Amino acid sequence: MKILVLYGPNLNMLGKRDVSQYGTVTLDAINEMLKDIAQKESIDLVFFQSNHEGVLIDFLQKYSKNASGILINPGALTHYGYSLRDALTDTKLPIVEVHLSNILEREAFRKTDVLDRIVLERFMGKREKSYIDGLAKLIKHIKNQKSNSKNTK
Ligand code: DQA
Repeated sequence: MKILVLYGPNLNMLGKRDVSQYGTVTLDAINEMLKDIAQKESIDLVFFQSNHEGVLIDFLQKYSKNASGILINPGALTHYGYSLRDALTDTKLPIVEVHLSNILEREAFRKTDVLDRIVLERFMGKREKSYIDGLAKLIKHIKNQKSNSKNTK
């Protein structure tokens, strides 16, 4: 089983950017944490970060075919990234959205989330723990999907 883990703009700067919102943990450290969890479940994670919406879309078009799900922190694209939203929808994969900060308790523009209707669930406000919870949800969902499809065969 393969899960795509995507990060949008500025998330490569974790550890250095606005530590009051995002903490001091780097993206590499988050990836290591997720890798540990995935390994125990024999799941492959494919990590990708870009500061460009089109590059994220190119990645999804190329790699979603062989994946079982998507874990994504779209960064600020969360609030206005309609072409990313369309590309995510086109994958037809289960998607879980994560945020380090609580986007509902910050500036007004962050309350708009163009992905909220297309994701299984959103995890936010728990810093890197949001990722752990989000990955657990996605794995559980994919496993349930697989066992349900087996039972109906
Ligand atoms: C973020 C929240 C977004 O509003 C912001 O633009 C980010 C990070 C988060 O993880 O809390 O870049 O997605």
